Amino acid sequence: MDITILGIESSCDDTSAAVLRNDVILSNVIAGQKVHEAYGGVVPELASRAHQQNIIPVVHQAIKQAGIQKEDLSAVAFTRGPGLLGSLLVGTSFAKGFTTALNIPLIEVNHLQAHVLAHFIKQNPTDNTQPQFPFLCLLVSGGNSQIILVRAHNDMQVIGQTIDDAAGEAFDKCAKVMGLPYPGGPVIDRLAKEGNPKAFRLSRPQIAGYDYSFSGLKTSFLYLLRDELKENPNFIEENKADLSASLQYTIIEILMDKLQKAANDLNIKEVAVAGGVSANSGLRKAIEEHAEKYHWKIHIPPFAFTTDNAAMVAMSGYFKYLDKDFCPIDAVPFSRVII
Ligand code: KG4
Repeated sequence: MDITILGIESSCDDTSAAVLRNDVILSNVIAGQKVHEAYGGVVPELASRAHQQNIIPVVHQAIKQAGIQKEDLSAVAFTRGPGLLGSLLVGTSFAKGFTTALNIPLIEVNHLQAHVLAHFIKQNPTDNTQPQFPFLCLLVSGGNSQIILVRAHNDMQVIGQTIDDAAGEAFDKCAKVMGLPYPGGPVIDRLAKEGNPKAFRLSRPQIAGYDYSFSGLKTSFLYLLRDELKENPNFIEENKADLSASLQYTIIEILMDKLQKAANDLNIKEVAVAGGVSANSGLRKAIEEHAEKYHWKIHIPPFAFTTDNAAMVAMSGYFKYLDKDFCPIDAVPFSRVII
């Protein structure tokens, strides 16, 4: 029997709904929130209000685009956390109301696990590019930088993670001090293409194991600008491309160094990347180069599934549906979690 899952994602500043039939995507609708651009970052209270406005039209559109009736749904999967509590409450409450009205199961999904499981979404029934277990997933977003050992759909272990800032945060905050618009990651990526990655030497963390740290890099970038601006007030304007290229080069070097170490120690050749920062062209190139050098089989999801989206939530929901892993109606969202 076919299983049809509605996924709902509202953990940060994207309201998204998607429909999956078994593991094949039927629709994936995402409504972004422009309201935060003026503030240089996501404002939680504004995000939850925008989710309230977006959720009904987004779900309606996802069901319509999928060509189904809401009565065809087998279950509703929603992001329970981690994320912004006010934002999560909107998706959680909606999912509870919807499943109660339709009398179908409610499925809670961990946002970070959903990013990993995005690799299993099929664009069509014959798509067979999914990773084989066990594999390593580098999850890099605005809020997380982790290396996850994935043994099965329902068996993941975080073997390394940032002890302070996330990689996306390092991109965004450094872009902000350069006066670039939010989110800075894509802007740095674009500027870096024109610059020299070795123009400026920035600090690298000395952390044991597979953990990351980006706060020292952020500080060294800030001090570099502060010192150079004293000598030349046009320093940033004149060196935008080189600064971007050097910053991107350093972040990628830090990320790839630990990923390679983990793959080598665990003797794993199957490597995936997930999260918003995986859209970075330099990171994609570095992963491809490592794959060539170390004989990795790599998995880079389509762009639409790298940033926050409900298709990955529906995908996780599908696996949980198979396991009959349903959640009670009194489940509350959580802001922080370890996989
Ligand atoms: O997974 P995601 O969409 O959501 C959150 O974590 O909220 O990731 C967003 C992050 C932001 O920090 C953004 O600057 C970064 O992903 N990002 C990029 C690129 N595209 C998005 N960073 C570097 N290069 C990119 N091309």
